[in-house]
Amino acid sequence: MRLFPRITPELPVILNGRLAGSKAMLSSLSLGGAFLRGPFPSVKIGDSLFMKYNLPSHGLFENSGRAVRKETEGVAVQFYDLDSSSKMKLWKYIAEGLGNLHACPYCGHTYEGLPQACALCGWNLDFHSPVYLEYHQKTCMLQRLHLKAEKLSADQLRRVVDLLEPESPRQLSTELFPEFLGTSQVMKEVFVKIRKVAPTDVPVLILGESGTGKELTALAIHERSKRKEKGFVPINCAAIPENLLEAELFGYEKGSYTGAHTRKIGKFEYADGGTLFLDEIAELPPALQVKLLRFLEDQMIERIGTVTGKKVNVRFIAATNCDLQAALACGRFRPDLFYRLEAFTIKLPPIRERGEDILLLAQSFLKKFSREIGVFREFAPEALKALGNYGWPGNVRELANKIRKALVLGSDHFVKPKDLDLPDLEGSGQGEEPAEGGNGRGKIEKQKVIETLELCRHNISRTAKILGVSRPTVYHLKRKFGI
Ligand SMILES: Nc1ncnc2c1ncn2[C@@H]1O[C@H](COP(=O)(O)OP(=O)(O)O)[C@@H](O)[C@H]1O
Ligand SMILES: [Mg+2]
Repeated sequence: MRLFPRITPELPVILNGRLAGSKAMLSSLSLGGAFLRGPFPSVKIGDSLFMKYNLPSHGLFENSGRAVRKETEGVAVQFYDLDSSSKMKLWKYIAEGLGNLHACPYCGHTYEGLPQACALCGWNLDFHSPVYLEYHQKTCMLQRLHLKAEKLSADQLRRVVDLLEPESPRQLSTELFPEFLGTSQVMKEVFVKIRKVAPTDVPVLILGESGTGKELTALAIHERSKRKEKGFVPINCAAIPENLLEAELFGYEKGSYTGAHTRKIGKFEYADGGTLFLDEIAELPPALQVKLLRFLEDQMIERIGTVTGKKVNVRFIAATNCDLQAALACGRFRPDLFYRLEAFTIKLPPIRERGEDILLLAQSFLKKFSREIGVFREFAPEALKALGNYGWPGNVRELANKIRKALVLGSDHFVKPKDLDLPDLEGSGQGEEPAEGGNGRGKIEKQKVIETLELCRHNISRTAKILGVSRPTVYHLKRKFGI
């Protein structure tokens, strides 16, 4: 059975940049390859060939492939992988040529007129459907797999399935976009808020510790808004020196100060039609807080060096990992700006409060980075335990970095706690104590208790929550370890 329907055009072809004689013709064409008719004395099997031909009414087409068969009439070429836009162009041309077939191009079964799907081989034959190419690619892959599956061992098969199904659909609680993971109740609530606010133009304030996904949240809002075809413009207030920030945000007129040789467009104007994401907003100096307020009130901005304002159409999202209330209390942040921003707030919980999400994220990063690096690794059971017990002050970013480092530096099939720079809670070590009254986490290490207490600034309730034990147990552990 064929996997690629082919057509039989007669297209003059230029091979490897040279006109291969007037008789050189591309006489059979599919998404997978072509047959080039003509004498090609110098072409050997295995040679890479570069082809250039004109697809009638679609324009010039160039692609490359490998000579796989030589016959007296010519040479068969298997295409190297085409990029998706070339594939689309080629498929359009082929689909037009498949118009009046009387046989299934996959299995050859004959018909008066082609049905929607072949009764014999089951392939869909609706070539002009806009989703046919995607269908074809998926089905092709499954067919190939089917042909090869018998020869694969169970382990090889499992790896193939892992590769095909990067995350099992059960784990993806969100169709926000696939890389935004979370199934915990707290994250579900975040997703609900994102969905709710995305289609509006309401300014959003995103709060959360570093690495909790504030920028990802802003991007998810943008991607789900009517502005998604326009720009998403992020800018970090803390990363830009205070004296340059105004120019970055609002732009300036030519000659407005020494060195302003040309006019500069600021990020607000740059984001016109789209979304501006202002990260670390607590760092915004007072003068710029006034300008930002003006924008929020009437969408007007002022370039440096002008007195007239300019109206912009920008959706505004801000984020901070600081306690804005505290900034407000000590006069570093304007109350009027704060109350305007605070109207719609999304608070991202730290990952230590997301329960099973930690392992979900960890497994997903392990798969993603393994694929990037080209290795296949799994977490050892101790590593899973260690991941679940650590406090993750750097949140998702820290988790991703630890896993990436473990994969790059480690060589064992199983990723161990030490590869992740995490304490091995299972290992035979000193300092382990059974957690009395605990919730089944088992043993708690002294170092772990110290780290968690520090992380929580010795707040016993939070420490207890992270360690998964009761408050009296934390007091008990403190006494026991002499902390
Ligand atoms: N829920 C999540 N699922 C998958 N990746 C995430 C998630 N949250 C954050 N990340 C990833 O973690 C990293 C840090 O996220 P980011 O949005 O930059 O955090 P923040 O802005 O809060 O510091 C990014 O690479 C981001 O893609
Ligand atoms: Mg950030």
